[in-house]
Amino acid sequence: MSTGLSVLEKENKKKSVFSKNNNSKVILFSSVKGGNGASFISNCVSSYLAKTKIQNILLLDLNIGKRDSRIIFDLEEKDLRDIGDIEDSIKEIDISLLKRLVVNFDNSLNLILPPLKPEKNKICCGKNLSLLLGILKHYYEIICVDFPYYLFMKNDFDFTENVDKFVFVSMPDLISVSNLEIFSRHICVDDIPNNIKIIINKFNTRPAVSPARLNSILKYPVQAFIPYDRDIEFLYHSKGPFYIFNYNLRIVKNIIDFSELLYEELDFEKKQ
Ligand SMILES: Nc1ncnc2c1ncn2[C@@H]1O[C@H](COP(=O)(O)OP(=O)(O)O)[C@@H](O)[C@H]1O
Ligand SMILES: [Mg+2]
Repeated sequence: MSTGLSVLEKENKKKSVFSKNNNSKVILFSSVKGGNGASFISNCVSSYLAKTKIQNILLLDLNIGKRDSRIIFDLEEKDLRDIGDIEDSIKEIDISLLKRLVVNFDNSLNLILPPLKPEKNKICCGKNLSLLLGILKHYYEIICVDFPYYLFMKNDFDFTENVDKFVFVSMPDLISVSNLEIFSRHICVDDIPNNIKIIINKFNTRPAVSPARLNSILKYPVQAFIPYDRDIEFLYHSKGPFYIFNYNLRIVKNIIDFSELLYEELDFEKKQ
């Protein structure tokens, strides 16, 4: 695997980042229905950014009651804390609590797991999510949130205030694309269209609408077309998202290009 910055190098950079306080960015990944690939894209993009960029990257998985990230990152056997374990102390989160909560990978990705019990969902109540993001922004420069669709129904979460980029992932079929269209219009504030990134995932699968029709249906332009690749799906399930970047395949190239575009737009000062 090609190397990004070592964990140690990042540790040193981190100190200066923390003391400078934050210019942190929140990227929210979602899709209108399950199975479209929102988690796939958020896991791969955050892994790629962690591997290649100097910033501290946190992946916050909010899929309460789902074990996907534990499977994908090979954490099933480990008895790890998750966001449900700290739901009564969100206001008091500090570095020592974070150290016990956050899973750190060798290649410097940081991960917060969702609770497996659906009733451990206080994080979704009231202002808790805004509060949590506010605190996490002091410690991480890029926060990728795997954000399930139903959380958009939360009336007390201010998306404009809390989120810098939205990445909406859709399959190429008419129903998925049409639903994405009403959804993105509803969610997105008109003055920040550049903050909405649309990905058409598994574009080589059928049924699919033509690119011309896509443009007529969707208000926002498509930023990336990611093909479905069976071998990559197998690798992703068996070895995890980091591993796929060893392969020079179109799907990998497209994910890298998209991640680079997103990163560029986050507009961090060049501090290398
Ligand atoms: N472009 C792709 N190539 C290969 N497999 C993919 C691709 N996109 C998603 N998958 C696989 O499809 C399944 C559903 O994706 P997932 O990310 O869980 O969807 P969602 O989070 O939107 O419900 C997962 O098993 C994932 O590994
Ligand atoms: Mg998902």
